[in-house]
Amino acid sequence: MNVAVVMGGYSDESVISLRSGQLILNNLDKSKYQVFEVHILLNDWYCLIDGTKYPINKADFSFTKDSQTIKFDVISNTIHGTPGEDGHMQAYWELLEIPYTGCGFYQSSLTFNKRDTLSVLSKFNIPKANSIYLSKGDAIDGKEVAKELGLPFFVKPNQSGSSLGVSKVNSLEDFDKALAFAFAEDNDILIESYLKGREVSVGVMKYKGETKVMGITEILSENDFFDYEAKYLGKSEEVTPANLSEKIKNHVEETAIKVYEALGMSGFSRTDFIIMNDIPHFIEINTNPGLSPQSIFPQQAAYSNMPMSDLLDNEISLALQ
Ligand code: DAL
Ligand code: MG
Repeated sequence: MNVAVVMGGYSDESVISLRSGQLILNNLDKSKYQVFEVHILLNDWYCLIDGTKYPINKADFSFTKDSQTIKFDVISNTIHGTPGEDGHMQAYWELLEIPYTGCGFYQSSLTFNKRDTLSVLSKFNIPKANSIYLSKGDAIDGKEVAKELGLPFFVKPNQSGSSLGVSKVNSLEDFDKALAFAFAEDNDILIESYLKGREVSVGVMKYKGETKVMGITEILSENDFFDYEAKYLGKSEEVTPANLSEKIKNHVEETAIKVYEALGMSGFSRTDFIIMNDIPHFIEINTNPGLSPQSIFPQQAAYSNMPMSDLLDNEISLALQ
């Protein structure tokens, strides 16, 4: 079976995705799968074999080597950000009838859009921050925002990942800078109230027909929040399993499963919460969670004693169902 491990993407998260892809390449069972490394970069789609790039034919997502056309039976997708986490590639593979890991194209689009995800989850009574949605060019008054949401508050791109473009605004003097930072990533942004509490990240996946929590990790960031530097440059401590009472642990697990099912997920996911007043508040869901050596999901897999090769087998079987 030909498996394309697809990584990269067009956003600043592509560098993380290339690391996630290496973990998949290293752990897929080569006795079962013929594994190909495929990079989807802006204006540059190719299969990489022994250092040579073979261009991907966009008409059918194949490539040609030594006059032989090679097609893929299944895609193991680990692109972060656009176009592989936001549903574009998923819709394209769907039309080409090539099975792919993770959730479907609609669920990918939905969950990459923070505003729309929050809107769906409000129907399921999932606690979350209060927020204001804004598009480029909209008038906004910092004092009004502070009156509505209180200080500090967060400014985030509506569609992005790895905390790129996210700022915590402690004083209104920082507001303009935070807006510019977020608008550099996306034309739409969210301003969210600050939730004071412990931050946890919960890996959830479908495994042997059941929705399973991989683990709960507590984030102890050295920075003011879990920003890009804290995530990838060692400025945080991550504790798996999080030291929570049995009652709160169960509550977090139940909420994470409820979110996963409400959003129609399949495959790997990782949902971030702030536990405020003992109640998990939803922050966001990642449908192609990072698998880099610094990322949380692999730490949770190790904690659960789930070999990555089994988890990847499971992902591929789900894709082929
Ligand atoms: N968006 C990054 C890769 C994560 O969720 O881990
Ligand atoms: Mg994210």
